[in-house]
Amino acid sequence: MKLNTEHLLTIRDLSPAEVRGLVASAAELKAALKGAGHEKPLAGQSVALIFDKPSTRTRVSFEVGINQLGGNTLFMTSRDSQLGRDEPLKDTARVLSRYVDGVVVRTFGQEVVSELARWGDIPVINALTDRYHPCQVLSDLLTVQERFGKLDGLTYAWLGDGNNMAHSWLEAAAALGLTLNLACPEGFTPDPEIVAHARDKGAVINLGDDPRQAVAGAQVVNTDVWASMGQEGEADQRVKSFGGYTLDQKLLSLADPEAIVLHCLPAHRGEEISDEVMEGPQSVVWDQAENRLHMQKAILEALLGPQESETT
Ligand code: CP
Ligand code: NVA
Repeated sequence: MKLNTEHLLTIRDLSPAEVRGLVASAAELKAALKGAGHEKPLAGQSVALIFDKPSTRTRVSFEVGINQLGGNTLFMTSRDSQLGRDEPLKDTARVLSRYVDGVVVRTFGQEVVSELARWGDIPVINALTDRYHPCQVLSDLLTVQERFGKLDGLTYAWLGDGNNMAHSWLEAAAALGLTLNLACPEGFTPDPEIVAHARDKGAVINLGDDPRQAVAGAQVVNTDVWASMGQEGEADQRVKSFGGYTLDQKLLSLADPEAIVLHCLPAHRGEEISDEVMEGPQSVVWDQAENRLHMQKAILEALLGPQESETT
């Protein structure tokens, strides 16, 4: 499939049909990989990965995915490039555009990915900023689709920090008209603009501070670290602020008995999630991690694949 956007900076860039189309395309790529194989729509293309924060899943799934699609990768950080010596983003964007066919960026400010997209003429993919983690949530939709055979008519719960993951879930809810219950302590709620946008688009967003209420009857229960990358200095204080938010078996027992547990990983067992839940039968976190690979490939194919490809 092709997308009507040149970049993937946030799920808001995508139409509802495009979100569903990426999930379908990722499922097809997954089946093909496990079967007779698939095409190499990135043959001859080079993709730069600029990562200013650590990564296991995102980096490896993009690098392996690009290789499986026939392309090649260059891994960089700001520190070991001239970005670390204050070369402007607008200059870097125009130079990279002369060498590579796309850029995957993990950084702090959303304005970094926006600036690279504005000045370059190659697709920019947001591999996580402080504000959003779109590729993760798109891939999580694939995991939900696999488990329930649908995305609609389910209750989604988000527990903990109103962070980049919560923001991308809100944007997924906006695109698809999902019901999303969020429980976030005071001071850690999502950006009100993103909440308002999701409601305006028709999503049912229930935002409160009671984890039990958020989880009650939910089919998809989601949590994430209490201190995201860049917030390590606040970790001890945050552990205190998030008291009562640990997703343990007692809390999970309030969800639908068929509920699945999602965590984008890395997880801090004993903080936002108990070891029992992580390792328990409702946890789908390993499938969830695997699906990053398949969704990255769907995104790459859609943005960098041959223009003549038809939407399936
Ligand atoms: N979930 C996720 O983005 O993991 P990494 O930080 O390991 O890439
Ligand atoms: N919210 C987490 C997600 C890690 C994949 C962070 O930004 O560190």
